[in-house]
Amino acid sequence: MSDDYYQDVLAQVAEHTRPHIGAGTVADYIPQLGGVDPNQFGFAVAAVDGRVYSVGDATTRFSMQSITKVFTLALVMSRRNHNVWTRVHREPSGSAFNSLYQLEFENGIARNPFINPGAIVVTDQLLSNTGDAFGALRDLLRTESGNPELDADPVTAASERDTGDRNRSLAYLMASFGNMRNPVPEVLDHYFRQCSITVSCEELALAGLLLARHGRRADGSDLLSRGEARRIMALMLTCGTYDSAGEFAFRIGLPCKSGVGGGMLAIVPGHYSLAAWGPGLGPKGNSVSAAVALEAFTDITSCSVF
Ligand code: DON
Repeated sequence: MSDDYYQDVLAQVAEHTRPHIGAGTVADYIPQLGGVDPNQFGFAVAAVDGRVYSVGDATTRFSMQSITKVFTLALVMSRRNHNVWTRVHREPSGSAFNSLYQLEFENGIARNPFINPGAIVVTDQLLSNTGDAFGALRDLLRTESGNPELDADPVTAASERDTGDRNRSLAYLMASFGNMRNPVPEVLDHYFRQCSITVSCEELALAGLLLARHGRRADGSDLLSRGEARRIMALMLTCGTYDSAGEFAFRIGLPCKSGVGGGMLAIVPGHYSLAAWGPGLGPKGNSVSAAVALEAFTDITSCSVF
């Protein structure tokens, strides 16, 4: 496709999204996120050949939050740690990303690696594998995003740590069932820093090419097998937007992963990685404007897995 084609698609996506910019509520349970201007919107498309197109605030950095969970899972799966699946399952939860009740009656095994308890277990596993879960993730994202200075935001990480009692509850509940390998405070220190990584839409779209290329890194080496990449994308489709996954599959029809910073990563396998960002969230913690933009993109281009 020509550059003109992409610019035209992005202009249409922006036009569709404009009335929704500022809609929703900025996450304020992490105080540092509560101060972000809601009237921002960015969208970027990266093609598997590495070309990137964008519109709006696509070079403004935002908090990556739960979108990091895709990449920690990729790192654990790349080490062929198949026994991680005895510690976290692969079913949609149908409940909020930080819900406690299911974890209690399911014996400390989280429903999937994208809700908070499942992601904390994945970070725990990565810490055991590498000795530095956050560092391993940051190195991967630096290389794949093309930003060698990509990093955590220490103020956001501290803000999460100060208000992280629910994550501590989830982690200690799992520990009580014998499902943590490292000390909870250490795991959560890596988890909070992981979530506070800042990224722009353009950088996130580039990083997502790892999945759009079925596990192939920017340097041409393979982090994941094709089957592993396929399985991560399947989990994004079924679990990546929590108790809205059905709605997102219906509206967008792509594997998606959201974060409470308002970012959303979506993959058109074999073709594109899409990153959308708008800080205002709907009631289930997913960006309102990013969802509208992704829906417009799939409607306009007919790019979908279905
Ligand atoms: O642990 C938390 O609650 C946040 N750091 C991440 C949650 C999140 O991004 C959920 N996504 N929509």
